[in-house]
Order: sequence, then structure tokens, then C-alpha cells
Amino acid sequence: MSGRESFLLDLQRALAAPPHAISPKYFYDAEGSRLFDRICDLPEYYPTRTERGILTRHSREMAEAVGRGADLVEFGAGSCAKVRLLLEDLRPRRFLPIDISGDHLQAAAAELERDHPGLQVLPVVGDYSAEVELPPPLPGARRVGFFPGSTIGNFGPAEALQFLRRAARLLRGGGLLLGADLIKDPDVLHAAYNDAQGVTAAFNLNLLARANRELGTRFELDRFWHSAFYNAAQQRIEMHLVSRERQTVQVGGVACEWLEGQALHTENSYKFSIEGLRSLASQAGFRPGPVWTDPQHLFSVHWLEAPEHLEDDA
Ligand SMILES: C[S@@+](CC[C@H](N)C(=O)[O-])C[C@H]1O[C@@H](n2cnc3c(N)ncnc32)[C@H](O)[C@@H]1O
Repeated sequence: MSGRESFLLDLQRALAAPPHAISPKYFYDAEGSRLFDRICDLPEYYPTRTERGILTRHSREMAEAVGRGADLVEFGAGSCAKVRLLLEDLRPRRFLPIDISGDHLQAAAAELERDHPGLQVLPVVGDYSAEVELPPPLPGARRVGFFPGSTIGNFGPAEALQFLRRAARLLRGGGLLLGADLIKDPDVLHAAYNDAQGVTAAFNLNLLARANRELGTRFELDRFWHSAFYNAAQQRIEMHLVSRERQTVQVGGVACEWLEGQALHTENSYKFSIEGLRSLASQAGFRPGPVWTDPQHLFSVHWLEAPEHLEDDA
């Protein structure tokens, strides 16, 4: 099924019946990726600068844990900005950035290759929530994964476990360097997803703008609110698009009814404790190694070793 077809079906399904939820992967067309890059520069959005600080400060220790000369795979690489902070110390033999936002990824990978002529960069456009076909492993190089940005938090607990199980198999004999946002003061979280310039709102609304571009729908964006809040019981930020009024929108020939105040759940961003993340990784078959964090304990980066032989191999 093409990306357009699955977007249409998933949007129709989400609007047809409760729980009215759609995967956040649909935020990311070229415009969504551009908006996400703007979010990363916002004063309220602490995760990017905090994780960048951790990677910069500890890249040498990370290289010692990870090992040099790896076949490095990044999940959800976006603009390939964070890997740049590791290249000098990690010196991978090859870099395979995976992302669903194809044009944006191709441009970022070409720029990275231009800036690092010795590095082989092979972008892979695909959906990592399913099986992604990668080029065959490089002989003699350990496969190492990089999954920054706390993108793991976009999965629910069961999906996160499933993703990590698949990653442990893919990376056996190597491991995963994983960035995870930490549980913190809800006010800090609330501000990060409700920035004063409204960039996060535009990012959320881009889901409907993208539907207008790709599916020929006629969503009027000013008839929806951006809503983001911390659900403390679930330890996650939730993002929703809320209809300001009763309205009907045609989606691929199906009339989709919105009641006043009806919400479409567009993203979860789970927050973790260090122990909780390590326990999840262990359940998936990894051996948790060192963890690096910032002085304020806002964010964490974990080295998770993937044993050559997993328990469920037997
Ligand atoms: C939160 S952004 C993080 C970007 C970057 N890694 C960082 O840390 O700043 C998530 C990235 O993952 C990509 N992405 C989201 N869901 C995906 C999926 N199911 N398969 C592949 N890429 C996906 C998006 O296009 C986006 O580039």
C-alpha cells in the first residue's frame, strides 16, 4: 500500500469511531519535518538542546562503550543533525539513516555526505514501526543503532517493547544508543509543547494541512484548536486537534462528522524514569549499559548492548 493510501485509510478510520487516534508518523511530510526543526530551536523546547549537550559532553565515553568503526543505523534521523555530534569520536564506517519523510531525509543525507567525504551515507526511506529492509551488514563491522530525540516515547508501552525487541535482533552483537526524555515538572513539559510562537500548534495542524495537500480534503485549519497537556497518570504528553464547532469534512468520499469539542488524538510523548527505561530495554533482550544525563536530569541517553544470542533464540 502506498503512503498516501495508508494515510487516507488511517485518517478515515480515526475519524469514524472512538478512540479517534492516528499515528504521529503522519505529521512528517517535508513541511512537517521543517516545522519539527523549528520546534527544536524554540526556547521552551528543552529536549533538543539538552540531548545535544549530553551527546557533546560525553561523545568520547559513548564511543568507548559503543566501539569505533560501526555500521551505524539511525531510526527517525530527520535532519541528521545529532549524529554529527558523534562522528568525530565514533568514526562509523557507514551511516544508514532511516526516516519516513523521504525528500527531507535525502536532502539531509546528501548534505551530511558532502560535509564528511570519508563517510558512506545510505539513506533508507521507510517506516520503522514495521520491518525496514536495510542493505546487508558490512562484513566485520558491528551494527549499532542510534535513536535520539525521545522518539521512542511516541510509541505506547507495548509498541515500544515490540520496537525494542525488533531492534535487539537487528543490532545483535552491537547495541542501541537511545535518547529518552525524563519525567519532570509538568509545567516545564506543558510549556515545551505549547510554545509562545505557536510552532507546535502549526506542527500539529500540519496533519490536516497535509491531508488537504495529499488527499484533497478541505479542512479549514482555523476551525480547530491545538491541545497539548501532560497526562500524569499515563506519564505522557498528549497532543490533540479539537474541533471548535460541529462540522462535516469529506475524506476520500466519506463524510466525516466532527462534534463541537471532538478531539483527534495525534501524538503521545511518553516520559521515562531511568530505571523504567532500563527495565523495558531488558525485557526486550538488551543489556543496559551506561546512562548519561544532564545536571538538571531533564533528559537521558542510554547505551543498550544487544547480545549476540538472545534468550528467545533458544
Ligand atoms: C521527533 S523527530 C526526531 C528527529 C531527530 N532524530 C531528532 O532527534 O531531532 C522524529 C523523526 O522520526 C521520523 N519518523 C516518525 N515516525 C516514523 C516511522 N514510523 N518510521 C520512520 N521514521 C519516522 C520523523 O520523520 C522525524 O524525522
